[in-house]
Order: sequence, then structure tokens, then C-alpha cells
Amino acid sequence: MMDPRKIVLVGMPGSGKSTLGKELATRLNVPFYDLDDLIEEKEGKKIASLFPEKGEGYFRKLETAVISEMLGRDEAFVLATGGGAPCYNDNMKLINSTGVSVFLDVPLNHILERLTQSQVELRPLFSGMDTSEIILKLKNMYVERCAFYEKAKIKLRGEDISPELLISSWMPFLK
Ligand code: S3P
Repeated sequence: MMDPRKIVLVGMPGSGKSTLGKELATRLNVPFYDLDDLIEEKEGKKIASLFPEKGEGYFRKLETAVISEMLGRDEAFVLATGGGAPCYNDNMKLINSTGVSVFLDVPLNHILERLTQSQVELRPLFSGMDTSEIILKLKNMYVERCAFYEKAKIKLRGEDISPELLISSWMPFLK
């Protein structure tokens, strides 16, 4: 069943889903959830060790299971998903059947500025890569993933997407 109080943020790693999501949740006075954190809690393991230990396929299944569990809850929230989540197991369809998805379309050069060394270490997809390899990987990911992200109900573009802009784009869905 459609419930516009469930806001689901999608976009590339480093696009600011968690940062903006937290601000948005505070403004709306609803809880904020981060899909990666929920998975880490459920498994009792960091994503960075989950990938090498159990494989990416295992992680992707968990993403779908946790998204589905969240959407089934009777509560309003903001959920930030991992960058790959919308691109597997028809997860965009699942998200759109219940919540309001929002694509944060942040320019790649801005993403690169934000992905500092410590940020990269948290993300197994970039492990062992140098900056030029990360740039290439991000460019390829962006091209492959846009088709999925574009299915979001709301698309916001730019370097500085404010919670206010997001809220004003989301309000019409409440009617
Ligand atoms: C991934 C992005 C990560 C995390 C995992 C895989 C991806 O989340 O889910 O490392 O496939 O792009 P962020 O988008 O928060 O980096």
C-alpha cells in the first residue's frame, strides 16, 4: 500500500544520502534509517567485512530483505539506501510500490571531492584502488546505474540539495 510518509533516498555513493537524510528527518521530526547500518546491525558485521566474507550476492539479498521489512512498517521515516541498492532485484519497483523515492543527482566532480580516503575505506567497492581507478569506477557506475536511479519519483539535481527543496518537492505526494 502506498504510504508517502516513507521517503527513500537513492543515488551514487558519496552523493550525500545519509547527510541530507538526517537533516530531512530532523526537519520532519521522523526517524532516520541508513540501509547499510541496518544491515550491519542485523549481521553484527561491518559492510567492509561482509563483502569479502559472504560475497556481494549475499549483501544484495540482505538489501532487498531489509528494504522490504522497512516498507512494511507502519511508520513515517527517511531511509537512505546504499548506492547499489536500487539496481538489484527490482528494488526500485519495490520501493516505488510503497514509498516516495528521491534521486539525489549530484555531479560526479562533487562526489569525488566528498569521497575522502576514510570514506573510501568504508566502501568495499573501492578497496585497493587509487584515485584514478576510483574516478573511472565512479564514472562507469554512474552510467550503469542512472537508468535505475531515474525511476525515482522525485529527482533533484545539483551540488547543494537542501532539505527544504526536498520537502517542497515531496509535499504534493501527501495529497
Ligand atoms: C555500495 C554502496 C555503499 C554500500 C556498499 C555498496 C554500492 O553505500 O551499500 O558498500 O554498490 O554502490 P553508499 O552509497 O552509502 O556508499
